[in-house]
Amino acid sequence: MIYSKIAGTGRYLPARIMTNADLEKIVDTTDEWIRTRTGVERRHVAAEDQTTSDLCVEAAVIAMEDAGVTADDIDLIVVGTTSPDLIFPNIATLVQHRLGIHGCPAFSIEAACTGFLYALTTTDKFIRAGETKCALVIGAEIITKLVDWTDRATCVLFGDGAGAVIVKPSEEAGIMSCHLGADGQYKELLYYPVGASKDLHKAGVGDSRILMKGNEVFKVAVRTLGKVAQEALDANGIDKDDLDWLIPHQANLRIIQATAKRLGIPMEKVIVTVQDHGNTSAASVPMALDVGVRDGRIQRGHLILLEAFGGGFTWGSVLMRY
Ligand code: UT7
Repeated sequence: MIYSKIAGTGRYLPARIMTNADLEKIVDTTDEWIRTRTGVERRHVAAEDQTTSDLCVEAAVIAMEDAGVTADDIDLIVVGTTSPDLIFPNIATLVQHRLGIHGCPAFSIEAACTGFLYALTTTDKFIRAGETKCALVIGAEIITKLVDWTDRATCVLFGDGAGAVIVKPSEEAGIMSCHLGADGQYKELLYYPVGASKDLHKAGVGDSRILMKGNEVFKVAVRTLGKVAQEALDANGIDKDDLDWLIPHQANLRIIQATAKRLGIPMEKVIVTVQDHGNTSAASVPMALDVGVRDGRIQRGHLILLEAFGGGFTWGSVLMRY
């Protein structure tokens, strides 16, 4: 049996940090409101001339070094993102070129905040099929360029960053199961109103922004994340107590706490980065994984459940031994 195993991790956050106090100067908000309603204390914001592929490349180089692989070893690149540099070519090819890699398949996946889990799941299939020996999988966003900085209900939530992993085949687990889902009926609750074939050239300043009915998203997120996690445990006949770590999408500390409570998992077993990163959409899970690995909490052999939920709605989980 071939498993996919994470051989290395990396993350990159843009240098500029924006605190809640900085936001108090821009919109009618308070540090207290943001902390208590979301758990966010600070977020990283990309520079004007920085693009999402810039963040990807930085994170990828760190992950490759961690895994001890070079550009010549990479034979698949998959990037989960909602904020690519260009409409085309796809961002994975831009990353491929910047890393000096030629010829291997390189594509992007757009599943909003679940983008990385969709990318990792897809990669798992390539590896299990025997087609891929060394994949670079990234979740990355510059979501702050899609935000309306006059809308206090959304601009306080988001941040930029990239998380990367190297995935290789292994005889020992490894990724044990992947569960993905989506339901397009919820589009109106969380979306971006402009795209390549919709109003692109009509868009003016202020037209383009993330539209979200936060309250309603919150409720479905808690319900779905609980369900997705339980589905993964049940499918593997694993008890919640056997889990070493839960790594959920980092949208809101209250969502993370409510999900953990629903599952009966203590917060000590949950990797939380939302206070430092904000909601970085597809980048949030791989960055949180990298944080846990690098600060020594996550050790080889640990049983980890990754899960995410985002616009679409989309959702997913990956259960793995690190
Ligand atoms: O990443 C994928 C999915 N995204 C999510 O999972 C986000 C899910 N939703 C949430 O995290 C929360 O719903 C929010 C953090 C977005 C909002 O928190 P909430 O507790 O649901 O607040 P609310 O939208 O019900 O607003 C409560 C009050 C309102 O005032 P009134 O009508 O009660 O007078 C808002 O106008 O808070 C007000 N408010 C703010 N006040 C200060 C909204 N944003 C702010 C703000 N600062 N930044």
